[in-house]
Amino acid sequence: MKLSVPDYILSIKPYTPGKPLEELEREYGIDDSIKLASNENPLGPSPMAVKAIQSAIGKLNRYPDGSGHELIRKISEHFGLTPQNVVLGNGSDEIIGMLTCALLRPGDEVVLPRPSFLMYEIMVRSAGAKPVLVPLTSLAIDLDGMKDQITSRTRMVFLCNPNNPTGTFINKRDFENFLEKIPPEVVVVVDEAYIEFVRDKNCASGIKYLDNTRPLVTLRTFSKAYGLAGLRIGYGIMPEEIASLLNRVRQPFNANSLAQSGAGAALEDKAFLEKVITLVHDGLDFLYDSLDRMGVKYFPTQANFFLIDVAKDADDVFERMLRQGVIIRSMTSYGYPHYIRINVGLHEENVRFIKALEKCLK
Ligand SMILES: Cc1ncc(COP(=O)(O)O)c(C=O)c1O
Repeated sequence: MKLSVPDYILSIKPYTPGKPLEELEREYGIDDSIKLASNENPLGPSPMAVKAIQSAIGKLNRYPDGSGHELIRKISEHFGLTPQNVVLGNGSDEIIGMLTCALLRPGDEVVLPRPSFLMYEIMVRSAGAKPVLVPLTSLAIDLDGMKDQITSRTRMVFLCNPNNPTGTFINKRDFENFLEKIPPEVVVVVDEAYIEFVRDKNCASGIKYLDNTRPLVTLRTFSKAYGLAGLRIGYGIMPEEIASLLNRVRQPFNANSLAQSGAGAALEDKAFLEKVITLVHDGLDFLYDSLDRMGVKYFPTQANFFLIDVAKDADDVFERMLRQGVIIRSMTSYGYPHYIRINVGLHEENVRFIKALEKCLK
C-alpha cells in the first residue's frame, strides 16, 4: 500500500495495556488466574451503577443524550461548579485526546513527566506536537524541572496526581507555586485518575483552583475507585472557554447511554466508594507488611498501585508470575528494569500474589 503517513504518527509506540485474564488463561492453560496489572477495582462495579445500567438497557435503540445533561448536572453539583465547567469523555483518555486535538498545532511543545501515564505522550505526538520529557526525581514529578523546560513554544503541561506508575503525589504548596510560575497562556492539565485513594491530606487537587481565567484542566475517571473501567466514562473540569473548544472536537455521542446512567448512579453510591477505599488501604497495609517481612523493597503509594523493587530482571519476574497465574506489570518499558507494579486486589488475591512472589524471588 502506498500511504503518506506523517512522521509524527510513525514516531508513536502503541500503548500496551495490561495482559487480559482471558489471554493468559488461553496461552498457559490456567483457569484461576488473577490480574493486578491495570490498577482496576477488584470489588466490581457499584451495585447502584449496575441497577441503573440494567434499567437503561431497554432504551439502547435511542442515541445517548449528546449533551450528557443529567450526568454533567450530577458531577457539577458534586463539586459545586456550573455544568459549563464539565466535559464528559469515553474514559478520561478521550479528554486527553480532545485537549491535544483542540489546543495543539504541529511543532508546539508539551512538557510531560517521565515516566508517567503513556497516553499523554501518545496524544501529544498524534497532534504533531513535541513532547518534552522531564525525568522524575526520587519517583516524584519534578515541578521545578518541568517549569524550567517551558519556552515560548510550550502550549501545555501534563501533571499526574498521584503519578502513575510511581504513586507519588503533589502537595498543595508545591502545586500553588507551580501554577504561579506558569505563563498564563500555557494549559496545565492535572490528571487525578487515582485521587480518591490518597491518604495524605496535603495532596493538591486541581478542582480547587478552577477559575474562569486560568487555563487549568482537571481530569477524573469512573474507571478506578468507581469500578467502571469497562464502561468507559471520565470527565474533565475546566474553564468554560476551554470546555467550549473541546465541545467543537467532541464526537456528538462520545459518552454512551449506559455509561451516563451507570456513572450517575456510581457517583451517588457513597457506601460503595467507602468500601473500595477501605479495601485498598487495608490491602496496601497488608502488602507492605508482607513485603517488609520478606525483606523486599517497595515504594509506598498514595494510589491503589505501587512499585516493588524485585532486585532482578522485572521481565523475567513478570513471566514467572504469569506461569503461576498472576498478572502484574514489568516496569522495564518505563525505565525501571528491576521494578514491577501491582495494584491492590481482594485480600485473597493479595495473599496469592505474595505467595507467588516469594516463590519467584527464592
Ligand atoms: C493516570 C491515568 N489517567 C487516565 C487513565 C485512563 O482512564 P480512563 O479509563 O478514564 O480512560 C489511566 C488508566 O490507567 C491512568 O492511569
